Amino acid sequence: MKIERVLIEEDQIQAKLAEMGAAISRDYEGKNLLVVGVLKGAFMVMADLARNIDIPVEFDFMAVSSYGSATKTSGVVRILKDLDTEIAGRHVLIVEDIIDSGLTLHYLIRNLGVRGPESLELAALLVKDGIERPPLDIRYTGFHIPPEFVVGYGLDYQGLLRNLPYIGVMAEDGEED
Ligand code: IMP
Ligand code: MG
Repeated sequence: MKIERVLIEEDQIQAKLAEMGAAISRDYEGKNLLVVGVLKGAFMVMADLARNIDIPVEFDFMAVSSYGSATKTSGVVRILKDLDTEIAGRHVLIVEDIIDSGLTLHYLIRNLGVRGPESLELAALLVKDGIERPPLDIRYTGFHIPPEFVVGYGLDYQGLLRNLPYIGVMAEDGEED
């Protein structure tokens, strides 16, 4: 498993999360904000984004698994861990690592939407361009990237490489040693 090239450097990610955190802090000033991270991929974004939010805020996590192959999701989502928090009347911001087919988020929005939150918005560090997906209104976007399979900064290939501090593109199978 080799990284062919770095797509987004560590300092670019950190600078972007500082901007996103500032925007979130402005927009939710005086509100009752609950930030919901989607495990596992979003754990790193959550940790670094959290340090850039300077208003009172609570955090919770959901764990979902999308059935599919190693690199493609099927759109069938299973909740492995639900929220600990009731979200009725709360301002909820869902944080995702990456939006590919959008099916996971589409499912989550419907699932959380019926619980009666005061507002429900989305933040995603990465959005893949050139993908057909159900319409999603993403309030905070980090980077648009080409429709390639990427790893690092929370994103895995077969469970590995989440610990890289940058986002990279893996070498094709044939190029591995
Ligand atoms: P969806 O296709 O938008 O539903 O994406 C579902 C999940 O697949 C994301 O939350 C990621 O965990 C994972 N995923 C999508 N694209 C990539 C990728 O390029 N690298 C690693 N994981 C990905
Ligand atoms: Mg994954």
